[in-house]
Amino acid sequence: MIDVSRIRNDFPMIRNNPDLIYFDNGATSFKPQCVIDAVMDFYTVHTSNVHRGDYAIAAQNDRLYDEARKSVAKLIGAEAKEIVFTHNITASINQAVYGLRNLVKAGDTILVSEAEHASNLLPWFRLAKEKDLKIEYIPLDAEANMTVEGFRSAMHEGVKIVAAAQVTNVLGSVQPVREITEIAHSYGAVVFCDGAQAVPHMKVDVKELGVDLYGFSAHKMCGPSGVGVLYGRYDLLQQMDPVFMGGDMNARFHKDTTVLLKEAPVKFEAGTPNIEGIIGTGRAAEYLMEIGLDNIHAYEKELRAYFMEKLSQLDNIEIYNPDNVYGPIDFNAKGLFAQDAAGYLASRNIAVRSGNHCAKILHNVIGTDQTIRASLYFYNTKEECDRFVEAAKDITLENAVGIFF
Ligand code: ALA
Repeated sequence: MIDVSRIRNDFPMIRNNPDLIYFDNGATSFKPQCVIDAVMDFYTVHTSNVHRGDYAIAAQNDRLYDEARKSVAKLIGAEAKEIVFTHNITASINQAVYGLRNLVKAGDTILVSEAEHASNLLPWFRLAKEKDLKIEYIPLDAEANMTVEGFRSAMHEGVKIVAAAQVTNVLGSVQPVREITEIAHSYGAVVFCDGAQAVPHMKVDVKELGVDLYGFSAHKMCGPSGVGVLYGRYDLLQQMDPVFMGGDMNARFHKDTTVLLKEAPVKFEAGTPNIEGIIGTGRAAEYLMEIGLDNIHAYEKELRAYFMEKLSQLDNIEIYNPDNVYGPIDFNAKGLFAQDAAGYLASRNIAVRSGNHCAKILHNVIGTDQTIRASLYFYNTKEECDRFVEAAKDITLENAVGIFF
């Protein structure tokens, strides 16, 4: 069970902005005091580089960095050596794509979906151009859900890579990742899964899902910005080349240009990493596990159902994912541009995202590329949903234009 009043006390952003209704958690989350403290302590008490210093504070940071890797591994049911720190999930996906480029040849197929964020399409598109591969799409229903049968119908011997989000970033469609991975593996394909909108909100176990590669960002799960994670099956990570070459990731190099890389995951972490961000990410992972991902999931599901029930009663609101039971609620105010309606909500101290949310081919599924996305987290409340619905009732052209005069 979630004690939301107690949880809200953990977040200075909530204390400092008591009237703000922040429903833009799909974009980024607030940070609890324990994460802020972990980052601040690095700056004020134990600043140093990692893996390079022969003194006590450097050793302390080496330990904190390694512990952060263990905490993140525990969060998703992985081993620490399978966790690569990057700068965000976009960097994780680009690393995954680069690492897989030698496993494909001209004519092979990459299977993706139209509901994906740009970060889980554009790196694959570029690989397809460079290697003369085909991009094909997994069938989706009207709320961007995959079905196992639809996926099976899209699979064939030529598919070498499948890339899909576990929870999509606009409609919150929860995809049957375990089942599609099983099918993909029966054809010998590798599966990359985007977990950016899943890991902050539900218990994820990469071994249970069976995926080969899995990515997410820290800033959406109560951690700092500038940290991403790439999980990889260890034997696959060992086969993959790093995008970045540089310090720390090499064991030795010589004048004749031969280079010996360290083992994964270190070979993927060239240069000074975002040390304080990674230590903060470890703390965020521990914080979420202390609350319990199952508790977070159950609370958010109930809150979303409450919010959906109230919002769907408004005649001026059109909802694009009424049957999905999880993730953001995506809607428009009838007759208004999404950004104008979001501007009106902002005038009532409500934060949402409007536009296409980086999912620029999702309009093929839902028929519009301009929507408002309200994305909740476990520190949001029913009272906030009520206030949101009161404000949403008043989204009219007159009111939206009125905020400018
Ligand atoms: N990828 C983030 C979102 O969906 C920024 O809003």
